[in-house]
Amino acid sequence: MAQHQHAPSMEGMQKPDWLVKLAPAARTEAIQRQLRGFETTMAEVAYRYTEMYWGGIDGNWEYAAHMQGEMGKALALGLERRPVYRKSAEQLFLKGAFVQIGEAIQKKDAALFKERIETLRASCSACHAAEKHAFIKIAVPTVRRNPIEKP
Ligand code: HEC
Repeated sequence: MAQHQHAPSMEGMQKPDWLVKLAPAARTEAIQRQLRGFETTMAEVAYRYTEMYWGGIDGNWEYAAHMQGEMGKALALGLERRPVYRKSAEQLFLKGAFVQIGEAIQKKDAALFKERIETLRASCSACHAAEKHAFIKIAVPTVRRNPIEKP
């Protein structure tokens, strides 16, 4: 019977070359395809939204601020890939609830933070409704994603 090999095989050690093997004219399109679209942006936004929430609940305000900032960056990069969503993102999220949750974090105000989480998640859902994904209604997180110690 053939033994299953756990040692790194030669195949595993080869440099990935799928991209360089493509004709140069096909590479840019392949990179665009691999970068994907707004669905991967949103998976990151949802992750950071969840962790920002637990940061605020724990009083770990620096962690919450980090996650809020990175959530903004993820969205900005996603909008570079999918500018069709820029108008809704700015009107329904970036200029309102996103700024306001940042203020609550800067103030380290737990009561205000909880209030503004409600406004924030309503804004997430409003954008989904505006962009034909009304079935994605954002709730208050119930499960932690990262093993972070409370301060
Ligand atoms: C531009 C408006 C807009 C805003 C603001 C927005 N979303 Fe989205 N979201 C979308 C769109 C559009 C999709 C569907 C993307 C697709 O499938 O290509 C989506 C999809 C999702 C998904 C499903 C991702 C998947 O795996 O396919 C989740 C989860 C999500 N959003 C969470 C959030 C959360 C949490 C917030 C707020 C913190 C938020 N979104 C804010 C537009 C938005």
